[in-house]
This record gives sequence, C-alpha cells and structure tokens, in this order.
Amino acid sequence: MYCDVLVIGNGIAGSVAALHLAERGQRVTLVTKGDTLLETNTAYAQGGIVFRGADDIPQALFEDIMCASSGSSSVRSARLLAYVGPLLVKRLFIDFLGIPFDRRPDGSWDLFREGAHSRRRILHVKDYTGRVIQQALNQRIAHHPLIEVKTGFFALDLIISSFHAQEFRFRYAPRECLGAYVLDKKKREVIPMIARATIVATGGLNQIYEYASGGPWNTGDGIAMASRAMAHLVNMEYVQFHPTLFYSSHPSNSFLVSEAVRGEGGELVDSQGKPFMYRYHPLGSLAPRDVVARAIFEHLENTQSRCVYLDLYRRVAPERIVTVFPGIYEELLRYNLDITKEPIPVVPGAHFLCGGILTDTWGWTNIRRLYAVGEVACTGLHGANRLASTSLLEGLTFGYRVAKTLWRERDDFSYPLVLPWEEKVGNPPPPSVLEGLKEMVRMNMWKYSGLIRRHEGLAHAREIFLQLKKETVALREKYGVSAEMVELENMIESALLVTESALRNPVSCGTHFRADSLSS
Ligand code: SIN
Repeated sequence: MYCDVLVIGNGIAGSVAALHLAERGQRVTLVTKGDTLLETNTAYAQGGIVFRGADDIPQALFEDIMCASSGSSSVRSARLLAYVGPLLVKRLFIDFLGIPFDRRPDGSWDLFREGAHSRRRILHVKDYTGRVIQQALNQRIAHHPLIEVKTGFFALDLIISSFHAQEFRFRYAPRECLGAYVLDKKKREVIPMIARATIVATGGLNQIYEYASGGPWNTGDGIAMASRAMAHLVNMEYVQFHPTLFYSSHPSNSFLVSEAVRGEGGELVDSQGKPFMYRYHPLGSLAPRDVVARAIFEHLENTQSRCVYLDLYRRVAPERIVTVFPGIYEELLRYNLDITKEPIPVVPGAHFLCGGILTDTWGWTNIRRLYAVGEVACTGLHGANRLASTSLLEGLTFGYRVAKTLWRERDDFSYPLVLPWEEKVGNPPPPSVLEGLKEMVRMNMWKYSGLIRRHEGLAHAREIFLQLKKETVALREKYGVSAEMVELENMIESALLVTESALRNPVSCGTHFRADSLSS
C-alpha cells in the first residue's frame, strides 16, 4: 500500500501532525493499534496544558522547565516551547478547535497550579482535559477528507531502505525510512505501507513497570521499532515517576491522581495524617516530581508501609472537590472511597519517558524520512525530569512543527519496491504465558530499574531481560507474529534500553537516581 505521509499513533502529537498536514492539502494515513481513537495517553491526561498565567512571561516558564530538570533540558527546545507553545494553544486549541477550557465567573481562565511551576498557568477542563482534547481532535480527523484513519493496525517494524528495499543501490546509500510493516489485526495480514515520510507518535513505555499511570497500550512499541531500525535513542534512563497513583493491591487498578490535586491544596501525609514532604524539600508536596516521587518511595521503605495518603478532604471544601475533580471523585467512588470524607491512598508509578528517539525541534531523526514526535521522541525538552503539564503542550507544539516541516519541504519521492513480509501471522501465545513474562518485566523493572537504582541490581535485571529476549525468539517461532507477541517483545526491548542506559550512567540527575554513586 502506498501512502504520502504515514502517521503511527493518534495521541495529541500524531493527531495534531495529521490534522495540520491535511489542512495544508497533504494526504495522511493515520494508523493506530487501538480499536478506537480514544486509546491514547492523551485521553488519560487529567491536569491540563500549560498556557500563560495572569502575571506570566515566557522567560518564567522557560526557567521553570530548566529548574525542574536541574538544568539538563535542551535550552533551544525549552525556549521554543515556552515562547511558541502558549501561542499555539491559543491559535489551534482555543480558536480553531474551540476546546472549552474552564473559566472563572468573571470570564478569566481558571488556571491550575502544579508542582515546580512558579505560578498558576495550566488550562484545564475539570480533571479530564486530555479526554476533551482527544475527542475534539478525533472529530476533526474522522471527518477530514485527506486523512485515512485505520484503527486496529499495529505497526510491527519500520521499513528501512538498507534492510528492506529490493534495489541494491539503497544498500550503499544513507538509510531512509520507507514506511512500516503494519499488521491488520482483524484480517491478520501484514501490509507493507510505503510512505514518503513516516511519523512515529506512539507514546511511551510505562507498562514495563508494576505501577503505571498510562493505559495498557504503553508497551514501548515506537521505541523498540526505532531501536531495531538503528535510530538514535537518548536519555533512556530518565523515566519519570508520577508521585500519586491511586494505590490498590492490584496494580492494574491503579490510576493517576492529578498533581493539580496538590496544586489545589491537597497535602501528602503519612498513615498518622502528618505531612512529611517538608522534610525533603522546601516546596513540600509541590516540589518537583522526581523529588516527591523519591521521597514517597523512601518514606515507604523506611516505614515499611504500602502507601502514603493524599489529604484533600481536610483542606479543600467538598463542593470544590466535586466541582473541580469530578473524574477522580467518581472513579474513586467505584472503589468505595469518598475523597470528600477520607484521604486517598497513593504510591508513585511510572508516568513518562523523558528520553526517546533523538530529534531536532522539527521532528527530524538521524534516519531520512523518519520523524518522531510526542513522548516517543526526545528533543531534549524535558532533560532528566519533565515539568508538570508540559506533555500536552509538547505534543501540540512539536506535532505542529513536524507537519510544518513536511508541508514546506515536500520532495519528489518515487516509491521503491520493498521486501514482502515473510513471517506467518499466528495466534498469540496463551495468556498465562504472556502475562507471566510481562509480570517478570514489570517486577524486575520496578525493583531494580525504578525510582532508586544500584549497579548490582541493574546488572541483574539486564541479565533477566536478555534471557527473556531469548525466550521470546522461541515463542515467536512457535506461535508466529501477533500484536500481543510483538508488544511483549517491545516491552522487553524497552526494559533493556532503560536498564542499559541506567547502568551506563552512574551520575544521579532528575528522575535517574543511582543510590550507589555520584550526584551531578
Ligand atoms: C497530572 O495531572 O498530574 C499529570 C500531568 C502531567 O503529567 O503533566
């Protein structure tokens, strides 16, 4: 199948890119492994999107980004986001899509504050901002005549000229991405989708950890594909942990409790109801995320507890809780927890990959015709630790820019012949086998490659993942290729990449904390 631009993934970054290419008259094929367009991290985002506070200036946002990352962010990317991002929110989300961000009774924006922000500047729609943005994007995309949407299409591998083109001349030239081999899950066939440009926007990898804020689709697919294609990956050791996921003895029931809850007055307390964060940082519960997440983890280890608590009910009026956080309130009622009357048990959980496929600020990677955008990409914006509520802004800003570079720099492309997909499509291995192996990944990542890391533990985890990788080779031989099989392989590959980067880097900074070594 021939496409012009192939976009893999339909979260905010992929959707914004697709929409703005189509608005400029370019044909786009948008594939997602989800069965609907709502299976994205964007749809899960609660807090909101960074905009501008009443007394705000871009330089202040830039400084907050740099400060949250302990100075490790790329100055160029951080400055770009701070100066251009809020303008795009106004132009594309407020004016073009008409996202109904909350306002105060006087008509001014109702802005949230979150950790490490020097002021209130986060636009939101209650506590389901991401869902509203995703729905608005989906609506435009579904009706756009130049966008062909394919749900249930799982990208297995990138088509790389030097590996997959049939003509020999491609082997002697710098590598190019010529599209992707995509599995049509319903028809159970693999289609080579050949494209002039391929944009990877597949999100993160947080399902490789026991506790994770994202949906089950976060299996590191784009990262693993890029690694197999020999794209440059950087900062893979910097996995951000969100301090507050609802604690459940079944980790798969855990879900995000927005940082905005602390921004509105919620306080982290121990099992006696005593605030403990000021022992760790002068900003207390609103310290940068890496600090809060690690403090909770340490507190749990020192006190041998399973969780700490987020006390909102003694600090914020019940009516305000229900009005501002209806999503969290209702979700927790399903677990018989009334947050207007009792504290929320919380633990930290894997949330966001700050590293990823190295790109410039236009989404270009080291492989020609391959672009990456959103969480899967690394422009250096987040450095070693991301500032809260910058991820939607990142998806918007860089999604827009990748579209812009592609419509501006359109070249002639003659579609090459590529090797057909040879491997048989099969049924997934039995669920107990798949789940058992995934659990091995999650458990070992949580224990050895999580919030607090040591050389010995990391080296041990690496051996386990290398062994698991061997086991999957045999499984794939036996059962053939399937989305479930490849997701497992992608999880193992992602776990290895994070662990090996963490092993290589003995210097603690931001989200990467090596208890046995130096600090930056
Ligand atoms: C949150 O609402 O706490 C998540 C926002 C983010 O990760 O940026």
